[in-house]
Amino acid sequence: MPRLQIMDTTIRDGQQSLWATRMQIGDMLPILPKMDKVGYWAIEAWGGATFDSCLRFLDENPWERLRSINANTPNTPLAMLSRGQNLVGYKHYSREIVHRFVSAAHRNGIEVFRVFDALNDIRNVVDNAEAIKACGAHFEGAISYTISPVHTLDSFLEYGQQLKDLGADSIAIKDMAGMLTPYRTERMVKAFNAEIGLPVHIHCHYVGGMAPANIIKAAESGAAIADTAHAPLAFGNSHPAVEMIAAAFQESRYDTGLDLDLLFEISEYWEEMRKRGHYKRGVSSLTHMQVYSHQVPGGMMSNLMSQLEVQKASDRLPEVMAEIPKVRAEVGYPPLVTPLSQIVGTQAVFNVLTGKRWSVISKEMKDYVCGYYGKAPGRMDKEIVAKVTGGADILDPSIAPGSLVTTTYDEVAAEIGDLAHSEEDVLMYALFPNEARTYLSKHRTSEKVDFMLEQESSGTKEDDYVDINQIRELVKVAEESGVGEIVVEEEGVRIAVRMPGASAAPAPVAAPAPAAQVAPAPQAAAPAPAADEATRPATWRAVTAPMVGTYYEAPAPGEPPFVKVGDEVAANETLCIVEAMKLMNEITAEEMGTVREVCLTDATPVEYGTVLFYIEPHEVVPTIPENA
Ligand code: CO
Repeated sequence: MPRLQIMDTTIRDGQQSLWATRMQIGDMLPILPKMDKVGYWAIEAWGGATFDSCLRFLDENPWERLRSINANTPNTPLAMLSRGQNLVGYKHYSREIVHRFVSAAHRNGIEVFRVFDALNDIRNVVDNAEAIKACGAHFEGAISYTISPVHTLDSFLEYGQQLKDLGADSIAIKDMAGMLTPYRTERMVKAFNAEIGLPVHIHCHYVGGMAPANIIKAAESGAAIADTAHAPLAFGNSHPAVEMIAAAFQESRYDTGLDLDLLFEISEYWEEMRKRGHYKRGVSSLTHMQVYSHQVPGGMMSNLMSQLEVQKASDRLPEVMAEIPKVRAEVGYPPLVTPLSQIVGTQAVFNVLTGKRWSVISKEMKDYVCGYYGKAPGRMDKEIVAKVTGGADILDPSIAPGSLVTTTYDEVAAEIGDLAHSEEDVLMYALFPNEARTYLSKHRTSEKVDFMLEQESSGTKEDDYVDINQIRELVKVAEESGVGEIVVEEEGVRIAVRMPGASAAPAPVAAPAPAAQVAPAPQAAAPAPAADEATRPATWRAVTAPMVGTYYEAPAPGEPPFVKVGDEVAANETLCIVEAMKLMNEITAEEMGTVREVCLTDATPVEYGTVLFYIEPHEVVPTIPENA
């Protein structure tokens, strides 16, 4: 009897879609034993943005998180989302790093690997697939669903066959934007069952509200598994609620068999958690609903709106919305999913704000057009390609983009050195060097300092509570301020944190705000002194920032600046980078000339119209007609 199986996404996609991936391990641990009793096909617990978010925002070790979840769910397989060659990051990693990462994830508790590529380029999935098969885990090949003239049922089937050839154990139809409709779902699932023959797993974001209908049609058409989330983390940009799907299939041949009372009990926990953390619930607004007409995913919409707010141009949203499909068509209809949603959306914003289409181009767009993300689904506009690449080489289509990354594990391990105590630590560093170094240094420092921790108090009892986070905070303050020792007195407990090697001269600080007391005064941003307006020759022309962002003088930290005073520059030569909307945007010279003034120091925030350089254009020598 066919039964629909359910994968729970509450602690991964649910919180990523609604709570900006800020759920902490402590938020989920108490309820996991109950969730383990539900009988889910799997719990999606890891991957996607959770790895990054643990390090960047939560001061959590993502590997420890995985192990803790696994220890609390002995009866339910854990699933993760891998972005193919990008794993859980935002760029390609080498084959060796992919293999080691997958095998480490498996060894720490992942049984089901869902792997997708934003462009449905199979070359970006091969290394993952091989690694997953090698460790004997479940390889779920995901199809990034989108709508465009080149995304036909046949194109999806062809990709499905490629996934099957790599050994896929199941196929996920991944509708990240909520664009699937019930009858498209029916056609797709039936075709996949007939032609590919692997279990079909349906993943529909709720967005405008069509997902429950899609799941019902999918089940009737022979899908094996569907994704849901617990009600407090369902709806809106997340998934349909498990309670509604379980109820919908009761008394049918697709009955999920899940215990509704248990599901509600679990949801009450999540509702409490949601209220306590002041987290938003999923809602479907008119904007969400409009995905059916403009096909711009909800997450991308809200992103665009906040970008335009930063650029003080919120009123230009309708123009940007009209520009997005044009840009997308010009660059071969990439699915609007991370990172392409960002790259295409930002290009549309630039095209509108500058008033000159394709005059500012991000490095990421250039890389995409040159083929470094993978193969575009459709043909690109030749003129745009010429403009974007500016003569740069386009990657030979026979070369897989991921194969260009050859970083070895040993190189990475040598770089992070003693800070890493395990392969997991090294992999963390391989994926997010800055964040991992910060995390590892901080936690190694705390270990060193822990033993120096003195607790003196009038009547300290054994159970007196010292918050480890408070101590870490103090260590951070001590490190940043250069203070050797910090003493905090709180509720009769005296905590002294002495930095290794520091003399024991106490610097008492009143709790609870030590940071305010000892942190060094922030250095005032000091742009290079500008030449007096009056003394600047009239022939100099100002190059201004076309957007709000951050000015960078060099392609990367430590590298020499693009230009310095006195340099001759050609038209279209890169002068600097303005980072805006998370993209690195190269600012180029409009005409040939000499750099007369560099107005800002590196990493200075800029407003729209901030002067970056003064360039003296070369005098144009009038060309003499040949027969004159
Ligand atoms: Co999703």
